[in-house]
Amino acid sequence: MVLEGKTAIITGAARGQGAATAVLAAEEGAQVVVIDVLDLGDTVRRIEAAGGVVRPVQGDIRDAATWDEAVRIAEKELTGTYLLANVAGVTPLDDSVVGGSDETWQRTIDINLKGAWLGMRAAIPGMLERGVGRVVNVASLAASHGVDGLSSYSASKGGLVALTRQVAVDYGKQGVCVNCINPGVIDTPMNEQNTPEMTEAFLQMTPVPRQGTAEDIAATILFFASPGAGYITGQVLGVDGGWSVRS
Ligand SMILES: NC(=O)c1ccc[n+]([C@@H]2O[C@H](COP(=O)([O-])OP(=O)(O)OC[C@H]3O[C@@H](n4cnc5c(N)ncnc54)[C@H](O)[C@@H]3O)[C@@H](O)[C@H]2O)c1
Repeated sequence: MVLEGKTAIITGAARGQGAATAVLAAEEGAQVVVIDVLDLGDTVRRIEAAGGVVRPVQGDIRDAATWDEAVRIAEKELTGTYLLANVAGVTPLDDSVVGGSDETWQRTIDINLKGAWLGMRAAIPGMLERGVGRVVNVASLAASHGVDGLSSYSASKGGLVALTRQVAVDYGKQGVCVNCINPGVIDTPMNEQNTPEMTEAFLQMTPVPRQGTAEDIAATILFFASPGAGYITGQVLGVDGGWSVRS
């Protein structure tokens, strides 16, 4: 029970990696505030069925009001934010620079990068007051490796890696550790948009011969939130079956 008595805010928690993280955090004793634009009923039911405490905030992470509400619940009604997991994101396909649209660029940067920035801006002050906190940002292998047709996505995730390092430097002295995960190919609803050929090509690149699972990422987030990870900050960990270390 590595999060016993602690409060976690987790975005993208209606499904996929965010939902798996919320369920695992609750199993590990956390009270969780879950955020998503989609209905959070399924995640709430899963956590409550296991006896956990969960508070849903249905809203957009681009909207500061969503964060105000989530942090208010965490600070005033629960035990104060210990963990912020910025998991929500979008992946527009066929988004090469030539032919790319202003709208797709802005939407991707606003959700994947500014959304996490807004979350940290809202949640870190409470961590600083208590002198303890953990932030885990979910970026992507696309932050470090070129992937066909993902220009706004790669830029947003590369920015998130850089932002992670910066925030880690700013608040390490005050007890806040900030780390980043670069998932490889993870079997979630996001990847239903991939063609079988794309999935097969990804798997050819992956030494561990399977897609990752939402639970693989949830377990890594919980590791970064655990007491044993208190000397790790500003780091980027690939959870990608070894794709990023291939020659
Ligand atoms: N699935 C993969 O292969 C893969 C690989 C690398 C990185 N990632 C990253 O992992 C994270 C989780 O993705 P996933 O695989 O669980 O995908 P997913 O599509 O299943 O889940 C993403 C969740 O984020 C939510 N979301 C999107 N925009 C939002 C917004 N503006 N405000 C609030 N919520 C919003 C969605 O509604 C959804 O529930 C994302 O940041 C994604 O970029 C995924």
